[in-house]
Amino acid sequence: MKKILLPNGLSVSAMALGAMNFGTTTSKKESYEVLDLFLERGGNFIDTSNNYAHWAGTGDESETLLGEWLHERGCRDRVILATKVGFDRHGQGAGLKKEQIEYWIDESLRKLRTDYIDLYYAHTDDANTPIEETMEAFDRLVKKGKVRCLGGSNFDTWRFAEANAIANAKGLTPYTAMQQRFSYLHPRAEIAPKYLFNEITDRERLRYLADKNIPLVAYACLCKGGYEVPERLPEDCVAGARMELIQRMAREKGLNPSAIAIAWMTNLCRCKGYPTVIPLFSATPEQLESNLRGLDLVLTDEEMELMNRT
Ligand SMILES: NC(=O)c1ccc[n+]([C@@H]2O[C@H](COP(=O)([O-])OP(=O)(O)OC[C@H]3O[C@@H](n4cnc5c(N)ncnc54)[C@H](OP(=O)(O)O)[C@@H]3O)[C@@H](O)[C@H]2O)c1
Repeated sequence: MKKILLPNGLSVSAMALGAMNFGTTTSKKESYEVLDLFLERGGNFIDTSNNYAHWAGTGDESETLLGEWLHERGCRDRVILATKVGFDRHGQGAGLKKEQIEYWIDESLRKLRTDYIDLYYAHTDDANTPIEETMEAFDRLVKKGKVRCLGGSNFDTWRFAEANAIANAKGLTPYTAMQQRFSYLHPRAEIAPKYLFNEITDRERLRYLADKNIPLVAYACLCKGGYEVPERLPEDCVAGARMELIQRMAREKGLNPSAIAIAWMTNLCRCKGYPTVIPLFSATPEQLESNLRGLDLVLTDEEMELMNRT
């Protein structure tokens, strides 16, 4: 699998594997199968959180399962591990206060059976805590070697920029990756996002990231399987001309539509005003095999232009 050297020094696979449902709705056996296959195919970038998937269990399952898998396979040094702090678990504990960050990093390290996290995200903004307090707490984790670099997820762009301005002014570690909801389909303008934090990434955010050379880790990038089964599309995504184009390109290239969406995202960094985009998705082993064919696909400039202006 292609690797990308990120500006923050991490060498990650061109896609990230989502572990959100591991140990809850995805059984241990199924989770191990896809993790083993991902590693075998050269993948290394794995995404979890301190609260996955609390709506289907306790919130400890994903990190705990990953910790067991890393330990059993002895592959910690081959994996770039990303986890998160800041969202609630069972309605409690949301926030990015110093005490919360200090508590949850140790919980994540314990569950993941490791002594460092490669990429630690603020899972969402916390308007009730001074940004200085959050960035200082994160910076201490970096200085202690518990965390290699930082990211922000589900932030308004201006708040992410403000956090980085404060970090830079105070000589603290800034966020060097952003994780947001992003896919090929246009958002349906008349439908407000279910939660404010997961508004679909817009062009201005993309230009900001391109300008700052910050990679976008794109979650929900396969629209919950909606490229394959349109009934599964989230209600705030427009199918329309973009869906027709992706279906046509998939037929012409003998690939599945999700693979074309993945190819578009990974080719975007060649286009002016777009950052490096790393598709982040979960998949069964069979789905992973077919989706990976999109990761190696080089789309022509004409194809990218057509896809971008549709
Ligand atoms: N930062 C955040 O707030 C945030 C929020 C959500 C998710 N995430 C991260 O993003 C990861 C992915 O999230 P997501 O599951 O919402 O992403 P998604 O990319 O929208 O959907 C992935 C789902 O699409 C289906 N799929 C994948 N390949 C397919 C194929 N070839 N054919 C048919 N269906 C296919 C599978 O569903 P089935 O298994 O049902 O077939 C798979 O579970 C999570 O694991 C988590 O790590 C982060």
